[in-house]
Amino acid sequence: MQLIAGNWKMNGSVALAEAIATPLAAAADGLACELLVCPPATVLAWTAQLLHGSKVMVGGQNCHAKASGPHTGDVSAPMLKDAGAAWVILGHSERRADHGESDAVVRAKAAAATAAGLQAIICVGETEAQRLAGQAEAVVAAQLEGSLPDGFAGVVAYEPVWAIGTGRTASEADVAAMHAHVRAVLVRLLGEGGAGMRILYGGSVKASNAASLMAVANVGGALVGGASLDAADFLAIARAAG
Ligand code: 13P
Repeated sequence: MQLIAGNWKMNGSVALAEAIATPLAAAADGLACELLVCPPATVLAWTAQLLHGSKVMVGGQNCHAKASGPHTGDVSAPMLKDAGAAWVILGHSERRADHGESDAVVRAKAAAATAAGLQAIICVGETEAQRLAGQAEAVVAAQLEGSLPDGFAGVVAYEPVWAIGTGRTASEADVAAMHAHVRAVLVRLLGEGGAGMRILYGGSVKASNAASLMAVANVGGALVGGASLDAADFLAIARAAG
């Protein structure tokens, strides 16, 4: 079963959470995929309350590597769990760029998430310059090697940086090649666990391209940014998944 995850990024209010969660909760039973929404921390608990009893799951967009302590402005994995989250996105390229998150930091956060009982979605992906230089596969392999804790049992998301928020989606051939590469690295790193791990694609996924992207081999779902802020758009993507 594929996982369709919505990353609201730094968007969302109490009102928007309600506008998205209510139709998702009503539609989730009839879908062939799993649905996850990742609102900002301010409305995570409220969104989780709205979705309580539905099949739609809730996740955070980041967590600290420590469980508690003097880290002003940060949110820990146990705090996300307490607020109703079952998942957390880690190592998104925007956090790697905006906050200088290294692979080692992402790895520590993923270990903290697992310890708190959260499922982690670890993001990887190359920049346009790296792709043009022929380094895309090496960059992604290095990110996986550095970011995944030993025995990692969550989800990986491949999000080429140049396709995020740009309207430019990777071609089906590029997605097929990179997801096969990610699969091979996961098997090398994790053995059996890597063979079955879901690999999400992210980067300008929308209703019009979801069906073809979700049909590509080794694509286990989507990590959706902009289109996850509209319930109808997000559900159209979910209906294209299996
Ligand atoms: P867009 O779907 O807006 O391109 O964002 C993708 C993304 O970064 C999801 O994490």
